Amino acid sequence: MSDHATTVREYHLSTPEAMADPNAYLHRIRAESPLARLPQLGAHLLTRYADVSAALRDKRMDSANMLRVLQRLTPAEQAELEPVRRAVEMWMGHAVPADHVRFQQLLKRYFTPATVDRLRPRVREFTEELLDAVASKGEMDVVRDLAYPLPANVIAEMLGMPISDREQLQAWSRDILPVFGDGDLASLREAQRSMLEMHDYLRAIAADRRRHPREDVLSMFMAAEAEGIVTEDEAVANCVLLLFAGHETTANLIANGLVLLFENPDQLARLRADPDLTPQAVEEMLRCDGPAGVIGRVATEPVELAGHTVPAGEHVLLALMAANRDPEVFENPDVFDITRTRNRHLSFGMGTYYCLGAALARMETDECLRILLRRYPDLRPAYQVPDRAPAPPFGHRLISLPVAF
Ligand code: HEM
Repeated sequence: MSDHATTVREYHLSTPEAMADPNAYLHRIRAESPLARLPQLGAHLLTRYADVSAALRDKRMDSANMLRVLQRLTPAEQAELEPVRRAVEMWMGHAVPADHVRFQQLLKRYFTPATVDRLRPRVREFTEELLDAVASKGEMDVVRDLAYPLPANVIAEMLGMPISDREQLQAWSRDILPVFGDGDLASLREAQRSMLEMHDYLRAIAADRRRHPREDVLSMFMAAEAEGIVTEDEAVANCVLLLFAGHETTANLIANGLVLLFENPDQLARLRADPDLTPQAVEEMLRCDGPAGVIGRVATEPVELAGHTVPAGEHVLLALMAANRDPEVFENPDVFDITRTRNRHLSFGMGTYYCLGAALARMETDECLRILLRRYPDLRPAYQVPDRAPAPPFGHRLISLPVAF
């Protein structure tokens, strides 16, 4: 396709049309302008499966875009937020390629499907305990009582944090969210404060693990530190990343997945009748309403995308949620079908930065939904409309999800 085969049109993701039905709006953009311009965000947008997957695999598309949020600030403000920048630059996925590989090699054995499978019994126990706590009430808020605490418990345990600190870890995790989105100065200051508190907390546990190693990720990091493979700063920064990445996304998958089942009673009935369909149902939940709807890249040199050349330094948003509903790849893309096969969605990314926690998130969601549906055959929504908040740059996340049983 030549540079002028299609014009690059402009769109605004915050218009009422876009907000009312994000998926319909993305269908429109995909059909009209495969490479689109978002002037409000100063970025381009890709929506076709072929283009999004090519960009995910393209080494010229740098994933270290999170720090863009800091670039908008004045030099004095940037100086004030230097500790956040330094920490984020050490995060796997934001580090330079050599460091990225070093962290991947250290961590990947903890996150393989086989290793993760050994955690299944713990995940079952956590789920049962959380459900026991609300059993007598006949109602719960799935977000607050199950979807958030479950992944928080699991990742805290994997890292070696006491379960009793879980609520504090969750609060810190939530405070650092603005670093991932378009936080203002006040929220970035708050994020920095929480991140530094988290670092101090982790350093104290790390000191203990140097003397008394256990079978957890922090002990592994301390052993690697002793061999000169990582520094304490790198270990601590990456534990923050794991705590954060392990909380929000999986919680959203569990909660969004349940909403999809409620909205599609035939699929819910089918799953109840055949719980062995749960892994497939989880994939379909990831495809239809995956928690990472849009991710960003920065072009490190001029790159051809969807037939157009974007200049070096350009911010490009990859709409995974749009690629996942591309009619070129998925038949009846807007239909939630838990028996769908060949479901090659992009919700965990693709290529070098493919999600480290994919097997863990799949296993947790699988166990959680199986137990929930088995324990409560009459589980039903206790809301009129799902209680959602916008999640920049596009999409939503659930604030609460009241159910009765
Ligand atoms: C449903 C849950 C999850 C979703 C939808 C999700 C999504 C993603 C996506 C799309 C990426 C690629 C980002 C990019 O290419 O820029 C990613 C990377 C990553 N995810 Fe997840 N994630 C989930 C759960 C988790 C969990 C549970 C963990 C860890 C405990 C985790 C840790 C990571 C890490 C460390 C990376 C960076 C990998 C690298 O740079 O090599 N994620 N995730």
